[in-house]
Amino acid sequence: MQFLTSFITLFPEAFPGPLGVSILERARKEEIWAWETVDLRPFGVGRHRNVDDTPAGGGAGMVLRPDVAAAAIDSLDRGGRPLIYLSPRGRPFTQAMARDLATGPGLVLFCGRFEGLDERAIEGRGMIEVSMGDFVLAGGEVAAIALTEAVVRLLPGVAGNEASLGEESFETGLLEHPQYTMPREWEGRGTPEVLLSGDHKRIEEWRLNSAKALTKQRRPDLYAAYSETPEFKAPETGDEHD
Ligand SMILES: C[S@@+](CC[C@H](N)C(=O)[O-])C[C@H]1O[C@@H](n2cnc3c(N)ncnc32)[C@H](O)[C@@H]1O
Repeated sequence: MQFLTSFITLFPEAFPGPLGVSILERARKEEIWAWETVDLRPFGVGRHRNVDDTPAGGGAGMVLRPDVAAAAIDSLDRGGRPLIYLSPRGRPFTQAMARDLATGPGLVLFCGRFEGLDERAIEGRGMIEVSMGDFVLAGGEVAAIALTEAVVRLLPGVAGNEASLGEESFETGLLEHPQYTMPREWEGRGTPEVLLSGDHKRIEEWRLNSAKALTKQRRPDLYAAYSETPEFKAPETGDEHD
């Protein structure tokens, strides 16, 4: 079954953006996944098709109306797909969420604008709020594109080298080890000798230890969680550097 992503947005022209290139575009052509936009504007009210109004209680900005949002959502055949509202107040998006969403039938992504969406639409339609990080974007479109790209690249048949997916940052509970390629010497910087040794056991040990050291230094929160996860509690190999 094809994985379908529906973007509900005031700016359909923002899509597909980067989803229309490289492996995602190839996967779309191979009918592994498909995308569509649902324009919020035609669901607006009155002669001017208004989609927003002033916040109850006063204050700056405008708020997307619940009746307009719900009409756009209800125009879709969701077919069991989760309905996600991209929102800075949402649950932080993670690789584990991407993996989980990739096992489902698709996504319905509501892109907010202005001061956001009336709370009653979020509650009334059981929307799941998901955040792309602790920062505020002007709208949900970029967030929806990022979420979609993270999910769709995990669908079977999309990534060129699926074996490498399991070794990436976050998949093992750690950030990925540093990568090197040609030339072996560049601007006076060499390639770690062990990577040229052909000794796969030593290379694996070096990669694991580098990943641990990097994670410990840059993301102590991730490292603490990793250290406490029994399945990741591999014996220390000794040459870990801080
Ligand atoms: C200007 S923001 C609204 C911010 C809102 N007034 C607040 O303070 O939480 C407009 C829209 O951008 C999207 N957005 C902004 N930052 C986001 C983030 N970090 N993650 C996901 N969506 C975001 C949401 O759809 C939001 O409704």
